[in-house]
Amino acid sequence: MSNYPAQRREDITTLLRKHIENSYSPYSGIKVVAIIVSCNGNKYVGVNVENASYGLTECAERVAVFNMVTNGERCIESVLIASNTPKPLPPCGACRQVISEFAKPDTIITSISLKTQEKTQWKLEELLPHSFTKQYVIE
Ligand code: THU
Repeated sequence: MSNYPAQRREDITTLLRKHIENSYSPYSGIKVVAIIVSCNGNKYVGVNVENASYGLTECAERVAVFNMVTNGERCIESVLIASNTPKPLPPCGACRQVISEFAKPDTIITSISLKTQEKTQWKLEELLPHSFTKQYVIE
């Protein structure tokens, strides 16, 4: 997040720390929060929501993307992920695909550990090369 001005960085960290507590993760204990910054500059938050039927668990990133779409936006500027794990979490494969629907190959995804402050950044194209996009579906 060092590519954000100091005040904005503080705001975003506050938002991440506040919302990560809403993570519903009684089975894994892994708390994740994601913020989608839309191309209009709005922020959409999501947390992971686990289920007693484990396979129905929803990742924080997808919840955040769906929150953006629900609010009428269709363009992702950047993605932030924070977790209570010692290492920054990369988004899972399903989340990469869902992000790619609304992002560009050079969209930056930043992940931080709220435990150790370690941070990693990737471009979407690094995480999802040769992505399957709407161009293969819509002529
Ligand atoms: N999780 C996410 O929220 N995002 C990811 O990209 C990876 C995994 C959550 C799902 C589950 O609640 C917990 O982390 C452990 O897999």
